[in-house]
Amino acid sequence: MAYATILTEIRGAVGLVTLNRPQALNALNAELLGELCTALEAFDADEAVGCIVVTGSAKAFAAGADIKEMAPQSYMDMFKADFFAEPHDRICGIKKPIIAAVSGYALGGGCELAMLFDFIIAGDNAKFGQPEINLGVIPGIGGSQRLTRFVGKSKAMDMCLTGRMMDAAEAERAGLVSRVFPAADLLAEVMKIADTIAEKSHPILSMAKQAVNRSYETTLSEGVLFERRLFHSAFATEDQKEGMSAFVEKRKPVFKQR
Ligand code: HXC
Repeated sequence: MAYATILTEIRGAVGLVTLNRPQALNALNAELLGELCTALEAFDADEAVGCIVVTGSAKAFAAGADIKEMAPQSYMDMFKADFFAEPHDRICGIKKPIIAAVSGYALGGGCELAMLFDFIIAGDNAKFGQPEINLGVIPGIGGSQRLTRFVGKSKAMDMCLTGRMMDAAEAERAGLVSRVFPAADLLAEVMKIADTIAEKSHPILSMAKQAVNRSYETTLSEGVLFERRLFHSAFATEDQKEGMSAFVEKRKPVFKQR
């Protein structure tokens, strides 16, 4: 499918989405968000895809929600549109793993978008921030909640109240990103990681994703119970038999379930 604001391709078993509004540093307008959700849902439904990567340009993953689109909106416009609720919920509904490969700016809605994915891998030139305070607003796609869970209250307050940017090294120290690579190698390195993920059992990947995400939504004892039930259900899959037989037989497992 041809999109106006993103590029998509499948490389091996990895679905790659590249945000592509270079004239606006990939600012998230309604068209881009709609196309992104459609592309993610298509990859989620495609049995050939085991892992999804979302990236931007070398200069910007995304410089935020589109300020020019938002500027004239009234309270009633935002309230009636339930601004950003739909893309937020559609992205949360994707079952396959999604890695954000962040080079350059991930600001405001761009940082929030990266945090909506399953984990963030950054180029050493990445800059994260929630600068909404400078525009007379606050984060609106979960930034105040997710950033706080990633980096803790002190750093999240610092980011949201000053609007300052965090570089890749600080973001890695703080736990916002899982790994940092030289910017020039970022996509190649992330694709290797995505390939490794895509080789696993796809239903078991979804279970692992659900289990980790559940930890944000519930108590420890309920989360452990949820995990245990998923763990038990893994024993109903052919891939559990394959994975454990392969270990016993000292060979590499070949997971087949899609
Ligand atoms: C619309 C944007 C944009 C944005 C950049 N552009 N960010 N357009 N929305 N968020 C446009 C600029 O207007 C300009 O186009 C072009 O992209 C290049 O940007 P420059 O500013 O000229 O580039 P540079 O000097 O390199 O500065 C880069 C930057 C700066 C530091 C990233 O662009 C910037 O501060 N952007 C805004 C960051 C921000 O405040 N994000 C939060 C948005 S609010 P023209 O055609 O004008 O030259 C948000 C709320 C989320 O995200 C919650 C919603 C529910």
